[in-house]
Amino acid sequence: MREAMARAEVGDDVYGDDPTVNKLEKLGAAMLGKEAAVFVPSGTFGNQLSLFTWCGRGTEVILGEECHIIQHEAGAASIIAGVQTRPIPAPDGVLTARAISERLRRQDLHAPSTSLICMENAHSTGRTVPLAAMDEVREVADQWKLPIHLDGARIFNAAIAMGCEAKDIAARVDSVMLCLSKGLCAPVGSLLVGKKKFIQEARLKRKIMGGGGTATGRPSAAFRRAEYIFHRVWPNRTSARISRIPPSKDGQTPGPMPAVSDGGILPLRMMTNKAMRNTRTDAAISYTNT
Ligand SMILES: Cc1ncc(COP(=O)(O)O)c(C=O)c1O
Repeated sequence: MREAMARAEVGDDVYGDDPTVNKLEKLGAAMLGKEAAVFVPSGTFGNQLSLFTWCGRGTEVILGEECHIIQHEAGAASIIAGVQTRPIPAPDGVLTARAISERLRRQDLHAPSTSLICMENAHSTGRTVPLAAMDEVREVADQWKLPIHLDGARIFNAAIAMGCEAKDIAARVDSVMLCLSKGLCAPVGSLLVGKKKFIQEARLKRKIMGGGGTATGRPSAAFRRAEYIFHRVWPNRTSARISRIPPSKDGQTPGPMPAVSDGGILPLRMMTNKAMRNTRTDAAISYTNT
């Protein structure tokens, strides 16, 4: 991986002339069945860039109360996109069409209008969201002509756990943020994926956020090298692991995978790039990036 990074052909990505980044973005878009992608420094950056691109200031974003954007992104949505977030109950990370419908609103003298719905799959608790549940949300979004953004930091983990392709998950939403640094071998970086027009606009907003990079091809090369790992080694290794996961004894390791079509929990060892912390001392006790 380090060798691939050292050898990478690089250019200035702000001008779109870094060949390695260009290849990576094409690959990412193709893997998710979308038109285009833009490289960003982190998952948080990609989520916030999506909100910044989709939403007008003062509008409202509906999302689950335990999702990463609410819990772990330092309130960035109010600073960068200037939106009001509307966190709603989402048991096990699953947003329901009913809960969303009850909260959708159009601008009036008192209320902001809803501009976006955000989902997360796999959820950062390790839960996967069944495709049928995503379909229900899609239906409501279409009725209201609203876009859906997916925090797909671990979309490939979710796809493998649910026995589908990442494309199947991505087809139900308008934009996806996926992390290259979680299980895909790159040391940093994420992609924001969607329609060409959306990504073009996101490129400008990325520049505004200070995320345009020179020689970004170096970390991108690490992911291109990981293509092999993704296609050949990782799924096999992952399914082998799933079958070896023991029933819960320590209260941390989930038992056998539930039927994937009903949604399931990713085994902790599939929860990539997670620092497990001792809650009493707040010391990191293990760290995985497999
Ligand atoms: C679901 C989810 N979304 C977004 C992120 C943010 O990624 P990053 O740490 O690259 O900002 C994480 C990080 O763990 C995550 O678990």
